[in-house]
Amino acid sequence: MELSHTVAALLVACCAGLGCIQAVTLDVKEGNSTCIKAELSASFSITYDTISSTRTVQVPLPDSATVDTGSSSCGTDESLPWLVAVFGPGHALGLSFSSNGSLYSVANLTLQYNLSDSATFPEANSSDVVTVVSATVGIWAAINTTYHCVSPVTLRVGGATVTFSDMRLEAFMPGNDLSPTESVCMADTTTTTAPPTAAASTTAAPAPTPSGTPEHGTYSVKNNNGTVCLLAQMGLQFNISYVSKSQNKTVQDLVNLTPSQTNVSGLCEASRATLVLTEEPNTTLSFTFTLNSTTNKYHLSGISLLAMWPDMTARFLASNTSLEYLRSSLGRSYMCNAEQTLIVEPTLSLNTFRLQVQPFGVITDQFATAEECQMDQDQMLIPIIVGAALAGLVLIVLIAYLIGRKRSHAGYQTI
Ligand SMILES: *[C@@H]1O[C@H](CO)[C@@H](O)[C@H](O)[C@H]1NC(C)=O
Ligand SMILES: *[C@@H]1O[C@H](CO)[C@@H](O)[C@H](O)[C@H]1NC(C)=O
Ligand SMILES: *[C@@H]1O[C@H](CO)[C@@H](O)[C@H](O)[C@H]1NC(C)=O
Ligand SMILES: *[C@@H]1O[C@H](CO)[C@@H](O)[C@H](O)[C@H]1NC(C)=O
Ligand SMILES: *[C@@H]1O[C@H](CO)[C@@H](O)[C@H](O)[C@H]1NC(C)=O
Ligand SMILES: *[C@@H]1O[C@H](CO)[C@@H](O)[C@H](O)[C@H]1NC(C)=O
Ligand SMILES: *[C@@H]1O[C@H](CO)[C@@H](O)[C@H](O)[C@H]1NC(C)=O
Ligand SMILES: *[C@@H]1O[C@H](CO)[C@@H](O)[C@H](O)[C@H]1NC(C)=O
Ligand SMILES: *[C@@H]1O[C@H](CO)[C@@H](O)[C@H](O)[C@H]1NC(C)=O
Ligand SMILES: *[C@@H]1O[C@H](CO)[C@@H](O)[C@H](O)[C@H]1NC(C)=O
Ligand SMILES: *[C@@H]1O[C@H](CO)[C@@H](O)[C@H](O)[C@H]1NC(C)=O
Ligand SMILES: *[C@@H]1O[C@H](CO)[C@@H](O)[C@H](O)[C@H]1NC(C)=O
Repeated sequence: MELSHTVAALLVACCAGLGCIQAVTLDVKEGNSTCIKAELSASFSITYDTISSTRTVQVPLPDSATVDTGSSSCGTDESLPWLVAVFGPGHALGLSFSSNGSLYSVANLTLQYNLSDSATFPEANSSDVVTVVSATVGIWAAINTTYHCVSPVTLRVGGATVTFSDMRLEAFMPGNDLSPTESVCMADTTTTTAPPTAAASTTAAPAPTPSGTPEHGTYSVKNNNGTVCLLAQMGLQFNISYVSKSQNKTVQDLVNLTPSQTNVSGLCEASRATLVLTEEPNTTLSFTFTLNSTTNKYHLSGISLLAMWPDMTARFLASNTSLEYLRSSLGRSYMCNAEQTLIVEPTLSLNTFRLQVQPFGVITDQFATAEECQMDQDQMLIPIIVGAALAGLVLIVLIAYLIGRKRSHAGYQTI
């Protein structure tokens, strides 16, 4: 399955409003052979002192992060293999690995951040470069297998927390690519399937299941400085197929998202913006929009849904990061009043109703002029066509009348 490319946004919801970043690929090489490879999304929550108080910022591991070849290594007799990714002005994430021959694990995790970076740490009262280390990471896998964890994993490192999600990594690699055999982390292994009982179904928490046309919701995402950077409004309906506990078979279900029970989070970056909608119990939907800065066009490039509803036998996860929906231009919003179907995976599609979004270039909390979808334009054509047809009819009647009048006039003259 293409879960490896799952939108990193999943971490956002599950970790209280962290950023959604696309997976970063990092590898450590020695000569031509790769010894450590990691595809992951990471986000850091860092608390620091300002002159008057303390502040906490969410810092995503940007996709511009690169491996520091100077400090990374495949390990020697004295030292462990070490992956060091650097980003921004003097920030770094380090993972060191150890192995006992049958298992390998992350021996320690190092986070370094530079408080002089005032764009990331505004008003910090210190300009230190802070390094924090954690030696209890809990990431391990059998040797010659790839550690795989879609679920977000949060670790405390000093005064900071690091959240990984959608992570695939391997150290002590036998080849140059991640081993096809995967060790799936505990968080991703689904819960056991209890046989359906009456008691279970009556005490189960309510799933978001009112059908009919979904309620219209309005959502926005703010920047760190409090300005709105993404606007969206729509009614949303999941068309989802999953294995039902009560019916013991795969069912096709239509489920509406209830805006009043939905929390919004997300992240705005220069060329990527994410909207994450979370509805209890355990429904996390994320949209990723991508801006092409060459053409100044944007589109909806990724959708992922993570759901664990009471009637589901296993966690539901559907994700697609190569979508091409809702195309529009920078400085415009995208609008579609007609019902639209966005297919994500064979098991999931979304129906949207009266949708308007603007993921980039939002000024003063308002939608810019909309580019309407083809369906709306077609629907607008109907009154025009009807109008034109009526006008044509009137013209024909008028001409017929004039001709008739001329004929009768001519006939009168001949008498
Ligand atoms: C690495 O690969 C290149 C070409 O693929 C080859 O010429 C070179 O000898 C290789 N080096 C090592 C250390 O294997
Ligand atoms: C963490 O691992 C690196 C690389 O192996 C090592 O240099 C460093 O001393 C370790 N730190 C701690 C606190 O164990
Ligand atoms: C920390 O950030 C400041 C300002 O951005 C920069 O001048 C300095 O070189 C950085 N320190 C390191 C160790 O990269
Ligand atoms: C490696 O560590 C695991 C867990 O601690 C243990 O079960 C396994 O036997 C160890 N393997 C070797 C070869 O020591
Ligand atoms: C920054 O502020 C904290 C508490 O407000 C204080 O404990 C610390 O000494 C200050 N650091 C500097 C470098 O001024
Ligand atoms: C891992 O793979 C390498 C190369 O394929 C092989 O030599 C080694 O014995 C394997 N190790 C284990 C523990 O399976
Ligand atoms: C569910 O259905 C499968 C076959 O369709 C059957 O083997 C299994 O026993 C059923 N489980 C329950 C709890 O009814
Ligand atoms: C808020 O931050 C964004 C970028 O992060 C910037 O474009 C915008 O101008 C800032 N707004 C204010 C009022 O500072
Ligand atoms: C839901 O999806 C199924 C299968 O993709 C499709 O046949 C059905 O028409 C869809 N229903 C709605 C209301 O979109
Ligand atoms: C939304 O977030 C708030 C604060 O984090 C929380 O108290 C509330 O339960 C959340 N609501 C939903 C529907 O998730
Ligand atoms: C932007 O669009 C152009 C033209 O369609 C395309 O060639 C280019 O690869 C796109 N850039 C990105 C980053 O997708
Ligand atoms: C929601 O997710 C948490 C952790 O992933 C799990 O413990 C809990 O049982 C889930 N709730 C429901 C209603 O499935």
